[in-house]
Parts: sequence; C-alpha cells; structure tokens
Amino acid sequence: MQHIIKSYLKFIWNSTNAHGVHSPFVFNLVQKCFYDKTKYPEYSLLEKYRNSLLKNKNTIEVTDFGAGSRIFKSNTRTINAIAKNAGISPERAKLLFRIVNYFQPKSILEIGTSLGLATSALALNDFSAVTTLEGCPETMKQCQLQLQKFNINNVTGITGEFSKQLTAYNLKPTTFNLIYFDGNHSKQATLDYFELLLPTIDNETVWIFDDIHWSEEMEETWEIIKKHPKVKVTVDTFQWGIVFFRSEQVKENFIIRTDKSFFLDNVLGIKNLWGLLH
Ligand SMILES: C[S@@+](CC[C@H](N)C(=O)[O-])C[C@H]1O[C@@H](n2cnc3c(N)ncnc32)[C@H](O)[C@@H]1O
Repeated sequence: MQHIIKSYLKFIWNSTNAHGVHSPFVFNLVQKCFYDKTKYPEYSLLEKYRNSLLKNKNTIEVTDFGAGSRIFKSNTRTINAIAKNAGISPERAKLLFRIVNYFQPKSILEIGTSLGLATSALALNDFSAVTTLEGCPETMKQCQLQLQKFNINNVTGITGEFSKQLTAYNLKPTTFNLIYFDGNHSKQATLDYFELLLPTIDNETVWIFDDIHWSEEMEETWEIIKKHPKVKVTVDTFQWGIVFFRSEQVKENFIIRTDKSFFLDNVLGIKNLWGLLH
C-alpha cells in the first residue's frame, strides 16, 4: 500500500499534460485521443455491458492462477463481485475504446479476459478482430455468454494458461496491431510474454501494460521494458504503460496524465484498494 501511494505521488510530480510534450506523435495521441471529449454512442453499450454483470448474482467456481486473489477468500464467486473487483474501471474502458478507435488496429490480443469488460471496449468497432486469453473455463464461459448477449461477434476466446497458450499458438505468422496485457502481473511472466510476443509486432503495433506501478516488481518490469532496444516510445499513464515500436521515432519516455477525471479515478482506486487490504 505504501508503495503505491509513494509511486502515485512521484507520478503526479513527474507527469505532464499535452503541453509538456514535444513529440508530434505523442502530442496528437494526448490531444486527439486521451483528451477527446466526444460522447461516443459506444460508451452507453459499455455501461450496459457492465451493468448487466453488476446485476448478475449467480455464482461460478473460478480457477485461480498464480498467487491467488488479494480480494476473494474463496473460489466460489458471484459474477457481480468479479465484475466489480477484477475488471477495468468505466473511465479506463472508455479510454481503451478511444485508443482502439484512434489507432484502428485490425488484430488485437488481450491477455486476461475475465468477464470481458475490457474485451468489449476493444471489440466495439467494425475494424478489429479480437483474440482474448483466459485461464479459467467458467469465467470464459460467462464472458462468452455476455458477448453473445450484446451481439459482439468479433471476439475469439481461447481458454488455457497464458504461457502454454502463447507457446502452443503459432505466433510467427501472426501480427497483433494492439496487445492489452492484463493478466498475470508478475515480473517474470510479463517479461516472458514480452519476449514471446515480440515476433508479432510491426512498426505500428501498440502494447498496453496494465498496473505498471502496482508493485515494486512491476515497476522494475516497466523499467526493463522501457530500456528494451526494440521499444522506441513509451507513455506512462500511471495505470498503464503504453509501448510503441515505431522505428522513425527517437527513443523517449513520457509520463502523462490521461484526463481531467484522473484524480478522481486514481484516488478512488487507491481508496478502494485501502479498503480491500484492511
Ligand atoms: C485482471 S483480470 C482481467 C480483467 C479484464 N481484462 C477486464 O478488464 O475485465 C485477469 C484475468 O487473467 C486470468 N489469469 C491470470 N493469470 C493467468 C494465467 N497465468 N493463465 C491464464 N489466465 C490467467 C485470471 O483468471 C483473470 O480472469
């Protein structure tokens, strides 16, 4: 807990808005995407998708991966509790939707589906095909029912442990234009996925790593990623580390506040976290 508060204060101190950014590529991303105030009709679909999960009191038996959950004591969980605790926040789902809308990636990979709160934000468009990986069969089943209910048909769900799936998947001929990493937030796993997925990049590929400041280990991971020779531009938005491989860019790291509701979103996030840990 102390760690995240310290790292958040450091972020506030070091971060800037669009005015501190001299790279036209990043300036445009911040102005035209992060700070885009358009009320997209898809936002109400994202809200409906979330609300329908929040109303669902059915229970499922989840398969836990790795260190187990800091939130749940048992593996029998209600759908609404999973949606409340394990998924992307409403503001970030909108931002994820805008990022997809801005870059228009044809092929998207999500690592960590859960109930599809982020999957829906990645898939609510008519230009992307989304592949999403989830280890827990029951969770994936619920996600697929939910995607069907909302007529989201451009998603392929793959069930299984991430590294097994990524190793089994023939990645060589595949290009993913955008990858959202939101599964196993450990240093080794994140760096393993990074290396496994490098063959799938092209010059325009965007990678988004969730929870880069969640723990000291994840901060170390983010530092390693930033220094990787293939990585050109990075944008730290506190919650996310966004990576670009564009060979024409000079190597540069930015720390940027994503929008005006930033404080509310993050301070509330920390408050919730405090409640969960005590
Ligand atoms: C944080 S949740 C994903 C949240 C989702 N992206 C969203 O915003 O709604 C992470 C998911 O990854 C799955 N997971 C974690 N580690 C895994 C692993 N090693 N292999 C397969 N699935 C894993 C968990 O079961 C969980 O559903």
